[in-house]
Amino acid sequence: CLWVRNLRLKRRLPGPFAWPVVGNALQLGQMPHITFSNLAKKYGDIYQIRLGCSDIVVLNGARVIRQALIEHSTEFAGRPNFVSFQLVSGGKSLTFTSYSKQWSIHRKIAQTTIRAFSTANSQTKKAFEHQIVAEVKELVGIFLKLSAQGQYFNPGHELTVAAANVICALCFGKRYGHDDPEFRALLHQVDQFGQTVGAGSLVDVMPWLQSFPNPVRSIFKSFKCLNEEFFEFVRSKVEEHRKTFDPKVIRDMSDAIIDAFNETDSVTELTKDYTEATVADLIGAGMDTVSTALHWILLLLAKHPDIQTKLQELIDKVVGRNRLPSVEDRPHLPYLDAFIYETMRFTSFVPVTIPHSTTTDVSINGLKIPKDTVVFINQWSVNHDPLKWKDPHIFNPSRFLDINDSLDRDITNNVMIFSAGKRRCIGDQIGKTQIFLFFAILLHQCSFEKCPDEDFSLNCSYGLTLKPLNYKITAKLRGELLKSG
Ligand code: HEM
Repeated sequence: CLWVRNLRLKRRLPGPFAWPVVGNALQLGQMPHITFSNLAKKYGDIYQIRLGCSDIVVLNGARVIRQALIEHSTEFAGRPNFVSFQLVSGGKSLTFTSYSKQWSIHRKIAQTTIRAFSTANSQTKKAFEHQIVAEVKELVGIFLKLSAQGQYFNPGHELTVAAANVICALCFGKRYGHDDPEFRALLHQVDQFGQTVGAGSLVDVMPWLQSFPNPVRSIFKSFKCLNEEFFEFVRSKVEEHRKTFDPKVIRDMSDAIIDAFNETDSVTELTKDYTEATVADLIGAGMDTVSTALHWILLLLAKHPDIQTKLQELIDKVVGRNRLPSVEDRPHLPYLDAFIYETMRFTSFVPVTIPHSTTTDVSINGLKIPKDTVVFINQWSVNHDPLKWKDPHIFNPSRFLDINDSLDRDITNNVMIFSAGKRRCIGDQIGKTQIFLFFAILLHQCSFEKCPDEDFSLNCSYGLTLKPLNYKITAKLRGELLKSG
């Protein structure tokens, strides 16, 4: 029974003393991933904490995390049955449902759809690239307007719109203006979403907080509303698609997903009701992550002007000033990829994955973890593991280059931001392509400078993604604005 299991868990795993009622919730602090890493120094890379009424196992360090997610991939592939997870897309989200045969087929449908509209063949690759280039060009124009007469601005909103437009264009064949009120409201919802599903959110581990007025209950209520509104936005777009759907002409990802779920799978019962949830999964996951990466990239470029100049010199040498950088230039611009990997490692902007759970009893490093245990996976600790990285707290893109200044794949493979194993992100390739193109074109066209009045710290807000707190930059045009791709 659960009680005996919990008792076994209590006996076998090390961890800090847990207070009655709240457990260790008050000790997590503003940045739980840093607290988790500090606790690992005392209790080892696998330990247990208690949040409210849930015992949670926290995994830290490259060796233990890869061992769990890769060698015991099925055992660690579950998701907890948190109340907040059940609210996402009417409980039909592939991201927030647990491991099962049905989930595995659902995930394959989403993977096939992403591939069909990005990397399937040279034509789709070009169409995808074209979409991104159009967005970056518009973004450059907006940045320059916001920088008129040397003004400083925060690029957050514009980056979110640009990244969201790429995934909306793929899903709905439609993009939105940067000032569109409907789109602004949608983006605000996605931003709030991450604050509730990030590891350490109290909504799920203290369900009794829902029974009387308190800040956690109001967060939970607004989480419910924002999920309903976001799902309604997606549902209305899919409905429009259904009206004009023709299986012979698949226009975008929504059409492809409608087509995939048109016939119910008799074994898994994946019905048409899963269509909207799948589209919502792709939009939700694709918006917040890519824009956050770009946000950090701009901050770090402005903070390190010497590195920015070196990157621009390299782009000018490889691409020249008469055309924009393209995906084909990527193998010749290893220092750009090194900068992207170092941004992902250094900021670890998805510090802890979406919470996992164990699908069976499992033993790791001689420690027994029972079935249905909630597991937090501290990606930040992998990227700052002193056994893997020299001076992990220093931002140094060159650590990814070998003696020939080529990208060292053995080292880039040590970065963990897309997780690993059965739950690994399915948008990693399209995410990386987007980040590379935005970054290369923005740098080719503009220089970014920080506001001299600001201390320009790396302060950020915690959630599923870490977002830089308000900082301001200005963009300066480098030479002539290029219109053609
Ligand atoms: C899951 C990172 C972009 C789709 C995840 C997870 C992480 C992640 C850490 C959780 C894995 C786990 O729980 O172990 C990122 C980063 C991105 C990115 C850093 C960009 C830089 C995207 C894009 C898409 C996408 C562009 C799709 C359009 C998904 C989906 C899942 C997921 C569907 C759920 C997988 C599952 O539960 O089986 N991502 N992601 N992601 N991501 Fe991404």
